[in-house]
Amino acid sequence: MTDHIQFSPEQDALVLLDQRILPCREEYFVCKHNSDTIYALQTMVVRGAPAIGVTAAYGCYLAAGEVDGADSGWKAKLEGLLKDLEDARPTAVNLRWAVELMRKAWKALPELSLAQLRAKWLEMAKEIHAQDIEINKAMGRYGAELIDDGDTVMTHCNAGALATAGYGTALGVIRGAWEQGKKIQVIANETRPFLQGARLTAYELAKDDIPVKVACDNACALLMQRGMVQKVVVGADRIAANGDAANKIGTYGVALLAKHFGIPFYVAAPASTFDLDTPTGAGIPIEDRTPKEVTHVGEHQITPDNVGVFNYAFDVTPSELIAGIVTERGVIRAPYVENIRRIIGGE
Ligand code: MRU
Repeated sequence: MTDHIQFSPEQDALVLLDQRILPCREEYFVCKHNSDTIYALQTMVVRGAPAIGVTAAYGCYLAAGEVDGADSGWKAKLEGLLKDLEDARPTAVNLRWAVELMRKAWKALPELSLAQLRAKWLEMAKEIHAQDIEINKAMGRYGAELIDDGDTVMTHCNAGALATAGYGTALGVIRGAWEQGKKIQVIANETRPFLQGARLTAYELAKDDIPVKVACDNACALLMQRGMVQKVVVGADRIAANGDAANKIGTYGVALLAKHFGIPFYVAAPASTFDLDTPTGAGIPIEDRTPKEVTHVGEHQITPDNVGVFNYAFDVTPSELIAGIVTERGVIRAPYVENIRRIIGGE
């Protein structure tokens, strides 16, 4: 599945499969302006760290279409739009990573006209888009070695094709094992409140005929206690320099249970998800989303009026609970500080 993020030259727009309404309806959302891209990111028309990065790369191109090159202040205006774009969501570092790549290319060639800059950014966005699929396939090949024939693999949230340009990170590992002919099964935790597991992971695995069952988030302990889970593989939105990994809310609990039951817990994420400027998970910002996602299921209210809720969208799994981090450069194991610095930081 790769058609969920498309650039349309005819419309000069980014066309996104609307993940808010999957699996019931397959409809597309068109981004032509910076405000459309920011809206799509914030309301989760598109979500998942690498997909957010790809979207932001095209978003820079769209933002550049909104300023007037004849205006002497166009550079400051464009910088303002990039800042708004990179602040759209706080946790997934791929958003900032993509905008920063575009910004660096611009700063390296300050003499470019606005039209030349737009052309360069479109070419870069297409490259980031295409490379992400290759990166995921590489992760899939490394990660597949960690999965045994007959395993049932639990995953949390959606770290699949929909969360990337295609193939997926955690689901890339699962797809890699499946393509090797291993007879595996997947448990997709439903992932309250946005239900990425129930709606998106189940949708894309079922499309590929990979056996999947959805479980309530609170069934995790029982399933593990009954020996129904052999491996856990999840994605990440940001990994600190010591290997602490931010991922969808509930992941930390799954990791603690996996430790308790002696089940290997793996994280799969590309190099662009590492934030080596953040020493530990304590420095990762956690997105606090609208209460309505918790108080309502669709438009149906499920909590009493005026009751407060917590809607933290992510938690951080300490690296000591992680058996290995699958990247496109191989599987990183403890000691994480040294190995991340060497493999990701290139030191
Ligand atoms: O809020 P979301 O849906 O953007 O959160 C996504 C996740 O937490 C994913 O598990 C993570 O980004 C990995 S995506 C390959």
